[in-house]
Amino acid sequence: MGVSHWLLASVLFLPLSVTAQGCSVSNSNPSVPENNNPGYVVTTISVEPGFTVIIDPSSPDGNYFTIQGSELQLNRSVDYETDTVLLVTLTCEKSAVESYSLPIIVTIINLNDNSPVFKETSLTRVIAEDTKVNATIVAREDVSASDADLDIIYYKLDSTVQNTSDYFAIKGVNNPEIYLLKALNYDKFNFTTLLLYAMDNTEGMNVIIHTATATVNIIIEQADTRPPWFLPCTFIDTDRSICISSTYTGRVNMSEMSTEPLTLEPGPIYAIDPDYILNEKIVYSIVGGNADNVFSVDADTGNLTMNRVAASPNSYLLQVMATQVNNKQKYSIANVEIQVINKSDHAPYFESRIYAGTVSVGLDPRSFVFQAGDSSSPLMIAALDDDFPNKLNPNIEYYIRNNTNFIATKDGLILTNVMLHSPETAIMEAVAKDTVSLQEGSTVVTVEITAAKAETSTSDKIYTAQDMGILGGILAALLLIALVFLGVMIYKQYGKTVKFLINKKFSKDFPGSYDNQAYRQDEHPDLSANKQESTEYVNVTKIQQPSLFLTPSSEQEIHGLPQTSPASTIISDQKVEEEEEEEEEKVEEDTKHEKEVKSILKTDRNEGDPGYKAVWFKTDVDPSGENVEVINDNADYDDDSDQDLRENEKEEEDYKDDHHRDPGMFLASDSSSFQAAVNMSTRDDSDA
Ligand SMILES: *[C@@H]1O[C@H](CO)[C@@H](O)[C@H](O)[C@H]1NC(C)=O
Ligand SMILES: *[C@@H]1O[C@H](CO)[C@@H](O)[C@H](O)[C@H]1NC(C)=O
Ligand SMILES: *[C@@H]1O[C@H](CO)[C@@H](O)[C@H](O)[C@H]1NC(C)=O
Ligand SMILES: *[C@@H]1O[C@H](CO)[C@@H](O)[C@H](O)[C@H]1NC(C)=O
Ligand SMILES: *[C@@H]1O[C@H](CO)[C@@H](O)[C@H](O)[C@H]1NC(C)=O
Ligand SMILES: *[C@@H]1O[C@H](CO)[C@@H](O)[C@H](O)[C@H]1NC(C)=O
Ligand SMILES: *[C@@H]1O[C@H](CO)[C@@H](O)[C@H](O)[C@H]1NC(C)=O
Ligand SMILES: *[C@@H]1O[C@H](CO)[C@@H](O)[C@H](O)[C@H]1NC(C)=O
Repeated sequence: MGVSHWLLASVLFLPLSVTAQGCSVSNSNPSVPENNNPGYVVTTISVEPGFTVIIDPSSPDGNYFTIQGSELQLNRSVDYETDTVLLVTLTCEKSAVESYSLPIIVTIINLNDNSPVFKETSLTRVIAEDTKVNATIVAREDVSASDADLDIIYYKLDSTVQNTSDYFAIKGVNNPEIYLLKALNYDKFNFTTLLLYAMDNTEGMNVIIHTATATVNIIIEQADTRPPWFLPCTFIDTDRSICISSTYTGRVNMSEMSTEPLTLEPGPIYAIDPDYILNEKIVYSIVGGNADNVFSVDADTGNLTMNRVAASPNSYLLQVMATQVNNKQKYSIANVEIQVINKSDHAPYFESRIYAGTVSVGLDPRSFVFQAGDSSSPLMIAALDDDFPNKLNPNIEYYIRNNTNFIATKDGLILTNVMLHSPETAIMEAVAKDTVSLQEGSTVVTVEITAAKAETSTSDKIYTAQDMGILGGILAALLLIALVFLGVMIYKQYGKTVKFLINKKFSKDFPGSYDNQAYRQDEHPDLSANKQESTEYVNVTKIQQPSLFLTPSSEQEIHGLPQTSPASTIISDQKVEEEEEEEEEKVEEDTKHEKEVKSILKTDRNEGDPGYKAVWFKTDVDPSGENVEVINDNADYDDDSDQDLRENEKEEEDYKDDHHRDPGMFLASDSSSFQAAVNMSTRDDSDA
């Protein structure tokens, strides 16, 4: 190429030229940014007197330049994208004979002055609803932009036209391939527009960014993604993509063949293809529960008919399957419950065609409506049924059909449903429904709503709730005293038996309690018939130190116990605390009502008093005394213990119930029969 030969020549002459006398330039290799203004000074020229300088007309890019005084200027704007370098030669001459060349190479500096360019600024893709996640939606080459400045291009996907940012993304900031992030749902959107931006710079301070935009339209086509839905159905997800039907119910008469398709609730068996654009054909079949093949379902309509009579009163729970003909793996199953009922030839009816009631305004909801003219009897409606010998159908329930201010109980009592405010006459229809045959009969109820009678209501309120409370308290106290007295009498009379019974009860109710086997054995050797039960709850303490308070016979028995039995004695700490509190309360009551009964709950030990029985709480006493046993509340227990624990809790509940119900019984027992709850230090008097 000519230019390069010229360049080579000028480079060879360069040292000579620059140093030549007469003409010189300040910079023979200047750089000029592109897009310069015309008149841009490339370099300055010094010319000795007698010399002249001109632009060599044969220099390749000479027409870009002009000499203005001592300056070499560019007389037009240059574009890096057109010329990356300009070559100009200055000719310096003194006379026609003495002349030489001064070559100048002007390098053009590239500036970011071009926007990226998309091949297509608008493109459309049609994709199936069941396109796989991560699948490419638009290939990289289709959405890559080019940039004349050869800048690195940064891409950004914008899905704000419709907010589908969850669904589409580009692979990377420099890779504009669009792919699917999340499974599509045709019902959410069947069309979306994405905007793809190409930028030639990253964002930052004082940077020039040129941006190009491409519009990507995505059309979604419905795919056969969902199995049939039985209708009616309820969506169970916010996406509305799963719809679950409830059980269809129907009834047939015992030993009677229905020739018509059965009528079902909430509607006929009916399934649709939720992929409604495709709307694939669906067929029905019974796949389970059809004992003796009593029922059959029409494959096309879903109508349920009978093949033979139902001979037993048992209900049928049929499973009906709806399957897409094009793909049998797309199916759903619905339950159909068919009750077999006694044939009901008669509907319920009211003997009285009209009922009249009265109620006053201002009463709380659920107040009785009383019979008109008899304000002491609640208004009650009753229907008869001739299918029953005594005309009383136990399956009848009542309701009010057209007045929400009143309700009927299942038994036929009419109650208010709201607080009534204005006196008027309410007329309503009351219905008796046979809940088995679903037959109904109705009657009219008129209720006279009367203004409240101020006098009677104030006279009614002579006794306030407080008065009643005080009266109740006094009565309760009297009852308690009577029961205490009775208890004392019973104890005096049947002391031993009662003591034993209480012992037994407590040992059962308080499996964790200290249970003196020896005591029981001695006193009633032949009465502990239920040995299995009583030994089950033997305390850990006894097993650890039986010699302290066991007779040889009971000791033997205890050694024969299975090792797992101590587990049954463990009760949670909290339970114990509750019990402790309760015991304390009880003991206070004891001392109040019966002075002779000493408290068994002590915080100090009374060694000097033989025959004295006491119970310490573990936390209150140093368990160093020989006679003091501490039940370890950290005892390990095995797998059975959980269950035992639950049983214990339950039994404890029972105990509490008894305990409150029967205080006299409780007080009748003396302190020796009082079996403390677990996790206490116990001290027995048998060795004292
Ligand atoms: C630039 O200079 C050349 C000659 O050197 C001339 O032909 C051209 O018209 C000039 N252009 C402008 C814009 O002055
Ligand atoms: C999609 O691609 C990502 C990254 O490669 C991967 O972690 C993810 O499991 C893929 N998801 C599916 C559904 O293939
Ligand atoms: C688009 O939806 C996503 C999640 O669905 C949400 O986080 C985001 O804020 C939404 N953006 C706009 C602009 O609504
Ligand atoms: C797409 O959805 C719109 C409503 O979101 C609906 O009007 C339109 O008919 C649907 N197009 C097709 C082809 O189903
Ligand atoms: C059952 O018997 C009643 C009373 O005769 C009749 O109305 C009803 O239609 C019968 N039910 C069926 C399913 O045949
Ligand atoms: C029987 O099927 C037809 C056609 O689908 C339907 O219109 C009709 O309601 C069905 N009858 C019953 C009792 O389900
Ligand atoms: C159906 O009738 C029979 C005899 O008539 C009776 O023994 C049975 O209890 C009835 N069943 C029901 C559910 O009412
Ligand atoms: C309820 O129905 C009865 C009888 O059908 C009618 O007389 C009465 O006006 C109705 N009451 C209301 C509140 O609609």
